[in-house]
Amino acid sequence: MSYDYGLFIGGEERPAQSGAVIDVRNPATGEVIGQVADAGPEDVAAAVAAAAGAAEAWAGTSQARRAGYLYDLAALITERAGELATIETSDMGKPITVSKKVDLRSAPEAVEYFAGMAGKIEGRTVPVPGRFLNYTVREPYGVVAGIIPWNYPLLQAIWKIAPAVVAGNTVVLKPAEQAPLSPLALVRLAQEAGLPPGVVNAVPGYGEVAGAALCAEPDVALIAFTGSVETGAAVQAAAAQRVVPVTLELGGKSPTIVFEDADLRSAIAMAYAAIFTNQGEVCTAGSRLLVHESRHDEVLAGLLAMIGEKTVIGDPLDPATTLGPLVDDEQLRRVQGFVDRAREAGTGELVTGGSTRKVEGLASDLFFEPTVFDHVPADSEIAQQEVFGPVLCVLPFSSEDEAVELANGVRYGLAASVHTRDVGRAHRVASRLRAGNVWINSWGNVHSASPYGGYKMSGHGREMGFAIMDAVTQEKSVWVSMR
Ligand code: NAI
Ligand code: MG
Repeated sequence: MSYDYGLFIGGEERPAQSGAVIDVRNPATGEVIGQVADAGPEDVAAAVAAAAGAAEAWAGTSQARRAGYLYDLAALITERAGELATIETSDMGKPITVSKKVDLRSAPEAVEYFAGMAGKIEGRTVPVPGRFLNYTVREPYGVVAGIIPWNYPLLQAIWKIAPAVVAGNTVVLKPAEQAPLSPLALVRLAQEAGLPPGVVNAVPGYGEVAGAALCAEPDVALIAFTGSVETGAAVQAAAAQRVVPVTLELGGKSPTIVFEDADLRSAIAMAYAAIFTNQGEVCTAGSRLLVHESRHDEVLAGLLAMIGEKTVIGDPLDPATTLGPLVDDEQLRRVQGFVDRAREAGTGELVTGGSTRKVEGLASDLFFEPTVFDHVPADSEIAQQEVFGPVLCVLPFSSEDEAVELANGVRYGLAASVHTRDVGRAHRVASRLRAGNVWINSWGNVHSASPYGGYKMSGHGREMGFAIMDAVTQEKSVWVSMR
């Protein structure tokens, strides 16, 4: 079975004008499992033109009608969930149980949630002085560019497309070159659901070419980006040239904070999930474990026991697997590089992992062991930078103030999780954390209804929650003289 996709432009699926394609590999086997078109600037221009051409009619379509297409899309996703889960796992390596239970469970629910915003996108009447009526309306921007990464390809595509489209925008999506299949499968389903030509377009291709071209297109009125800080900054700079707004979701170095009074069983399980879910390729990964010094030995021992007992490194299509391969060679080099530099510098103590592991019967070299560094200095590279792999830094603390200071002492501010039985401390610490998402005695909860985004260099703008409607519309103020 070969998964092949073209560009989606104006309701048609077609090859790149240059004829170029990108081979798509299964990171668990190294095999080529499909080909996607490799968009050049001329293709991106055509996609944006198609989106711009469709914008006025789409904005004039009733909110209910727009939502209708999305409900049909949600039904198609549910119908094809098995196939989409297999595509997701084969393309980027996450365990099939995760693709099924997380990605494919959330996907139709998210589309339906955003569709449900239809009919609720309202303006205001504003009390103004004098004999005037002042009211506002929320209008779509026009063409929205969505640029997404490879770690949750299907969900990321939905989060970019569904809110923008229900608000009356048209979209050009740029999937990540490492994992383009499920976003393109989604766009194919959107066509099947009957979305009018040009409302949802997709330009698979490389970031430096297709992504950069998309950001430079004059008709792109809003850019929604998820990925690295460095690329996010480049996207924001490109947007500044044309004075268009951006939303940025840029990953993190999130702390899991375990206080001395925590329920340790639960805290250890959360700390484990926080860093080893999805191979650690999660923007909210709990990559720093801050633990009260009195509980350090117990927590570390519990974590190492879980790594030994629960982790099954293997073919991600096998339902027993809990840890799949990293997405590609480049990501492996990045992860291995952080680990090797820490070892060479004598940063902390490597207590487990640190290398790749062979899986019997699979050719891939991309399986990376769960890795834990203990007593890591807070200012070291590995405690400061996003690794985006199954690599955990343990940092003991001796007081609540120190825990908060360590937690906030990085350039990121995406998420944090706090483990304590003291309700006062839980809320006090939550209020002091400079992070967009805080989980108390939990980790990783994300839902379409709840705003999601970063503080500091983790980005700005919020995805999800009703607030997303403010991001994907602009407010027009209308004054009427009553004289
Ligand atoms: P990236 O930020 O370079 O890529 C994200 C998206 O941006 C992809 O679709 C890419 O093609 C596109 N892109 C790249 N250069 C562009 C440009 N100049 N203009 C417009 N679009 C461009 O991330 P990459 O290279 O995949 O991963 C590098 C590191 O970034 C990871 O190791 C991880 O630390 C971090 N990252 C964080 C993510 C998050 O969820 N916050 C997701 C992916 C990566
Ligand atoms: Mg990149």
